[in-house]
Amino acid sequence: MIVLGIETSCDETAAGIVADGKEVLANVIASQADLHQAYGGIVPEVAARRHIELIVPTIETALHEASLSLGDIDAVAVTSHMGLVGCVAVGVSAAKSIAFARDLPLIGLQHIEGHIYANHLEHPDLDPPFLCLTVSGGHTQLVLVEGRWRYRTMGETLDDSAGEAFDKVARLLGLGFPGGPEIDRLSAEGDPRAFRFPRPLEKAKSFDFSFSGLKTAVKNRIAELERNSGSLPKADVAASLQEAIADVLVGKTMRAARTLGVDTLAVTGGVAANSRLRQLFAERATEAGVRLVMPSKRLCTDNGAMIACAGYHRLRDGFRSSLELDAVASATLGEVEYEHALA
Ligand code: KG4
Ligand code: ZN
Repeated sequence: MIVLGIETSCDETAAGIVADGKEVLANVIASQADLHQAYGGIVPEVAARRHIELIVPTIETALHEASLSLGDIDAVAVTSHMGLVGCVAVGVSAAKSIAFARDLPLIGLQHIEGHIYANHLEHPDLDPPFLCLTVSGGHTQLVLVEGRWRYRTMGETLDDSAGEAFDKVARLLGLGFPGGPEIDRLSAEGDPRAFRFPRPLEKAKSFDFSFSGLKTAVKNRIAELERNSGSLPKADVAASLQEAIADVLVGKTMRAARTLGVDTLAVTGGVAANSRLRQLFAERATEAGVRLVMPSKRLCTDNGAMIACAGYHRLRDGFRSSLELDAVASATLGEVEYEHALA
């Protein structure tokens, strides 16, 4: 089954084409980063307008890359739940139009479910139960995947996401947007022990996260450094921030894995592309004898292939959306309603 996956929930206009949930035939991402750079963050209205301009060319490019035409597509999957609602609506309209015009099955997906299924693209043998950490610009969520389509949220951020912490500190350091990749690059030249930034909720019993205090601590330290020495050791600040975020994410996730007794761990979302986070997870998982699965970096950030993959699995299990499908700004994982749920 060849599935076209469409993703427009934030600032990437993305279309992926995937065969049988695992063979990526195309994965085109038209980033709007340059557009939002001037504002230092995503402006929802601006993003939605750009999606309208980019969605058709992006789908056409994906078809071209896969050497296919619309007639070869068997189903259309789209992020319909979670995100900037004006942005999500653009993808949903495109998906519904194609499904209606070609009489194809349509499946709407919750965005985080797409991130979770990014793991299945390269690891089709990944089966529940497993623990999945989704870390991105919009989310920091630790979920126990108990069974197919059965999720138990173990913890999430109480304030900022891990991605926001990266992006906001990058902005303070005068780096580009999105800040995560910039901090990642700059950290390679810095000392992660130069500053001991707080590890919020590290010792708390719950599996929740909090990153806004860390951001404030870094902000205050930057101001102090500028006041006292007039210069800013940007690479050291970046590496120390990255170390603090990685410590908290890895520490909590490994503790949750131990507490729950799960032997498989998945880590996904844009922040999962971070080099230090990947390295630390790999070390700790090996020590603990836990299987670690992470999508390759290009599949961690928002993309259409992950949506096509999740859509393939949903459709195979009998789920389907109707042409009444609507864009929804916020929705819990596993709570999207389907019209023709046979499973
Ligand atoms: O998953 P994603 O593309 O979009 C959302 O669903 O939010 O994640 C984007 C986030 C941004 O905050 C970006 O700075 C962060 O992922 N990110 C990274 C890296 N690459 C992307 N953060 C740290 N290190 C990276 N290499
Ligand atoms: Zn995302």
